[in-house]
Formats: sequence, structure tokens, C-alpha cells
Amino acid sequence: MAESMKGLKRTCRCAEVTEEYVGKTVTLMGWVAAVRNKGGIAFVVLRDRSGIVQIVAEDADPRWGSLKPESAIAVVGTVQKRAGAVNPNMKTGTIEIVPTELRVLSTAQTPPFEVKDGIDTREDLRLKYRYLDLRRPELQKKIILRARVVQLIRDFMSAEGFLDIETPNLIGSTPEGARDYLVPSRVHPGCFYALPQSPQLLKQLLMCSGFDRYYQVARCFRDEDLRADRQPEFTQVDMELSFVDQDDVIDVNTRLLTFLLQKMPAIMEELGFDAELIAGIRNAAADLSENGIERIAWQEAMDLYGSDKPDLRFGMPIKDVSETVRGCGFGVFTGALENKGTVRGLTVKGQGDMPRKKIDKLTETAKTYGAKGLAYIAIHSDGEIKSSFSKFMTEEEMQALIAAMGGENGDLLLFAADSFRVVCASLGALRLKLGEDLGMIDHNRFRFVWVVDFPLLEWSDEEGRFMAMHHPFTMPNEDDWKNIDSDPGSVRAQAYDIVLNGCEIGGGSIRIHMDDVQEKMLEVLGFSHERAEEQFGFLLTAFKYGVPPHAGLAYGLDRLIMLFSGSESIRDVIAFPKVKDASDLMMKAPSKVDDKQLEELSLQIKIEE
Ligand code: AMO
Ligand code: AMP
Repeated sequence: MAESMKGLKRTCRCAEVTEEYVGKTVTLMGWVAAVRNKGGIAFVVLRDRSGIVQIVAEDADPRWGSLKPESAIAVVGTVQKRAGAVNPNMKTGTIEIVPTELRVLSTAQTPPFEVKDGIDTREDLRLKYRYLDLRRPELQKKIILRARVVQLIRDFMSAEGFLDIETPNLIGSTPEGARDYLVPSRVHPGCFYALPQSPQLLKQLLMCSGFDRYYQVARCFRDEDLRADRQPEFTQVDMELSFVDQDDVIDVNTRLLTFLLQKMPAIMEELGFDAELIAGIRNAAADLSENGIERIAWQEAMDLYGSDKPDLRFGMPIKDVSETVRGCGFGVFTGALENKGTVRGLTVKGQGDMPRKKIDKLTETAKTYGAKGLAYIAIHSDGEIKSSFSKFMTEEEMQALIAAMGGENGDLLLFAADSFRVVCASLGALRLKLGEDLGMIDHNRFRFVWVVDFPLLEWSDEEGRFMAMHHPFTMPNEDDWKNIDSDPGSVRAQAYDIVLNGCEIGGGSIRIHMDDVQEKMLEVLGFSHERAEEQFGFLLTAFKYGVPPHAGLAYGLDRLIMLFSGSESIRDVIAFPKVKDASDLMMKAPSKVDDKQLEELSLQIKIEE
């Protein structure tokens, strides 16, 4: 039976009871985390979001010993120094509560899994009972950290003169590149709203309105395939600024990140995060405030790391050996070069004795990224050379290749020969895998980098045309713009991404504010006048009434918190996340709706087999 809390007022949270409270009476409310019944004496651990405290009930209310775990209770009691052993792993480990009153506010059924950190429970079960899983301290502290970081972001943005302005969620389709989530209109049969993939066009309009500096913690929706760092709905810290250039945007954001890194350690200590993780954040704060954040051009990032989001926590750069192997006897290499491809390799230090089986595994990895194979030279520690292609090359050619790779005794050299895209993708992925497998990555290190000078356009084989790499409103590099007709692929954009530990945590660009450039850009992207007018005519019209030069950026907040909290997945930092097939296991969404609802919306369902 549930009891009322009438007449009781909580005096503090569980873990706020310190030795200073000894001798005082407190009223605590929370959940029963554990009960140990020792015949006449019951030890009950009470939990709330601050942590836990021990209650020692001796000759008290007999119900103490039979409390059901996860029940919500209220306790009035006196604080005393622990009679038994002090628990150094517990914030409240030196005290205990001697209860004078117990109220069982709500008795819990046996939960489907134990609410405890480090338990091994199927994730689908945990997600179905997410509200219980969220009681676990491990998850709770991440959600609290997220709230605290958002508050810090608001403090910073507000102090920098940014205005928090909301933009609607029921909008027209915006060209962000992913598939839209659509919402049918009842009033306009056959018509749909789109949920925003980002507030992009609206924030640009706010610049036209003169708000100057806007930000929003905005919910975004994209119907894409999920991964560990992707959810169908996610949160951006979105911003836009007028009368600025790329350096201004990079500057304010570098300061924002530095501010967060400086403020987070105290919060993380309070929440009980891992000390080494906190030390890593402190080091990053010191590094950023002293050195800022390094910039790397997109081309260089691709050349050296095979990725536009390079993980710079370790080295092992890719080397281009196309010139060294040109005209050699190995058809795989020369064939790739004849097809305007490239031959590049990785020098894996100290792995020359890697068994053949392991190299085959690496080959399989490379193949999943489109490579047709992986050629290798294994230089054993005793100097003996084993290679998958030595029979096709002269001794001199082999030695020249080894020299070009900086290979020494005990090194493993891996090569991919293919198009630039495939070589980058496969060697980039191998580099990451080897970095991880060989323990080259310090997981408590935070390594930021700005990737700049992205290409403006990206060729799509599927569409048979150029697509905007960022979006159609991204300003081209002014020096490159003259080549837009002769060599569109070579034109760089004034776009930038902020990358942390190999994860794209944010991106943005300078926007086009000149009609002629915008018009040309739409033409290159294959937009007809009519389609452009239909999709974002309102923006093009707005730009005819005095558009300020403007630029912006958006962070993926979930990703940022995932990395700051040392989590493996963004699901850990989202209160109610969705699973891989985009469903919500707790609410059972998406779900079928009533015929009546469909009728009101003038919708008919036709499922093709
Ligand atoms: P972009 O598409 O790069 O830019 O998105 C900005 C950041 O949002 C995060 N992100 C995601 N996080 C979780 N799940 C997803 N499905 C997901 N998709 C993106 C990433 C990404 O860097 N309007 C532009 C920004 C601008 O130009 O100002 C935009 O949306 O961390
Ligand atoms: P093959 O002549 O097909 O037996 O290939 C000889 C070696 O070259 C094997 O180790 C293959 O894995 C490797 N190889 C094949 N295609 C490629 C490629 N495109 N890039 C790099 N290595 C390759």
C-alpha cells in the first residue's frame, strides 16, 4: 500500500549528507537500491540522483527488512558516524542514517533487470524499460552532464551576444541532403510538412531580419540509416552570425570549446566521472587555451589520413607511392595508375612479423571499403622480406618502394591501388583499425582539429551530376570560383568542420549572399528555375531585400556529449533514444494509427509486398 508524504519535506539529497550532519535529523526521499537483512538489523541503501546513503534500521519498523528494491520511500532519521567499517568508495561512506520513520511511497514490482552499473542486460530490454535503466548512476551522470553542458553553452552564447530564437518544426522540405520525415496535413489534404533536418534556411532568414547573432539548441530530424553516432532525431547547437568571415566563426567556436573544457572538470568531478577522463579534459583545456585548434585542409586530411574527419590522436600517415611504382612490373599498381588512380600505403611500425592470417583479416577490412585487395611487404625483424607481389618486381623496385615508405626491419607495409576515393576509404579505415588494435590511441585524449577548404561539389555516380558537399548556399572559395565551368570539381568551398578524435562534431560554412553566385551555383547543381523557386524561393526573394554577409555552424550536441563523457554511443547520452531500425522500443513507435485518423488526413495505406 502506498503511503502519502504529507507532513514530510525532503531536507536534502542522499549524497549531500556529510559528516557535518552528524547528530542532525534529515528527511530523505529516494529509491531502495539494496536491502540486507541481518536478523533484527536491516541495512538499506537509499538512492537518488545525487548518489547513495546507508540506512541502518535496528529494532525499528519491521518493514525495513522486507522493502522491495526500487520502491520509492521517505525516511526521517538521525545522521551518525558509521558504527561499522567506513566505505571509501562511497561519498557518504563515513556516515549512516538511523531511521525514526519510514514511509513507503510506492512499492516496486520486481524489476526486469537489476538497476545497477556494470550489469550485463540485453540492450533491447534496457531500452524497453528505459526509465529504469536511467536510474543507473552511470547513465544518470551522463544525462546530468548533458544538462550542465547545455547550460554552459547558453551562458557562453548569451555572454557573447547570441540570441536564442526558436524556429518552427513544421516546415517545408530543406535541402540538407538526407531524407525528410514528413507530417501529413489535415487541413490541406495531400500536403505534407517536413520536420527540419536543421534550422538552416530559417537561421539565414533571421540574419536577413537583422538579429545578427542567433543560436538555438535545436531538434533536427533526418531519415537516415542509424549508426553509433547517428539518431533519426538529434540535437544541434546551431548558430549563425552576420558580417563575419571564417576566422570569426572559428574564433568564437574555439573559445566556446575552450570554455566548456575549462568548466567541465569541476562538474565531472562532482558527478563522479573517471579521473583519467577528467584529466584528459583538463589537458585539452590547457592545450586549447594555449595553442588554439589546429587547422588542416580537406585535401591534406584525405592525403594523410584518408578521411575528412581525421583522428589525430596517433600518427601512421598514408604515403603516396604512385611515382615510385610507376612503370614497375606489378600489374595491380600500374593498372590503377593507368586508370587515373593512385597507389598509397601505410607503414605499420613494428608489425613486420604479423602472421599471414592477420594480414588476411586486414585485407578483408580493406575490401569492405571497396578495395580489391591489399598488397603487403612484411619486413621481418631479421630483415627477411615476405611480400604478396615480390615476384612481380625487381629487387631494385622493391627496395625503392621500401625506402619511399620509410620501411625498416620489423615493419609491415600495406598498399592499396585504386581510385583516390577507394584508396582513402580503405587505408583510412585500416589506419583507424590498426591504431585501435595496436593500442596507439589514448582514449583519454581529446584532439580537436578544424578541417577547412572542403570541395564545393561532390560527384554523384548515382545522380550523374555534381551535388553540394555541404549545402547549396555554401560560398565558394573566391580564388577558385573562376574555374566553376572548366573544372567544377576543383573549386573549394568556404566550409569547415570541427572534428574531435575522428568524429565530426560540427560543421558550417560562409553562405552565399550574392545573387549571381547563388544563381550560378543552382545552375551547376542542376536546379531548374522552377524547382529552386518552389523549394526555397522564399530565401532567394529574402536575399533581394538586403542580405548581410553571414556564416554559421552547428554542433551535433549528442556527439559532443558522447565524446566528453567517454561513451561509445550517442544512445548513452540521449534520455530516450531509438534503436537501429529507428523504432522506440518503449513507446512502440512508429505504430499503426486508427482508420479514423487516416481518414481525417485523407490518407490510404497501401503496403507493397
Ligand atoms: P550538418 O549536416 O553537418 O550541418 O550537421 C551538423 C552536425 O550535426 C551532427 N549530426 C548528427 N548527429 C546525430 N545524428 C545525426 N543523424 C546527425 N546528423 C548530423 C553532426 C554534424 O556535424 N545546417 C548545417 C550547419 C551549418 O551549416 O550551419 C548542418 O546541419 O555532428
Ligand atoms: P593477385 O595478383 O590478384 O593475386 O594479387 C596480388 C596481391 O595484390 C594480393 O596480396 C592482393 O590482395 C593484392 N591486390 C589485389 N588488388 C589490389 C589493389 N587494388 N590494391 C592493392 N593490392 C591489391
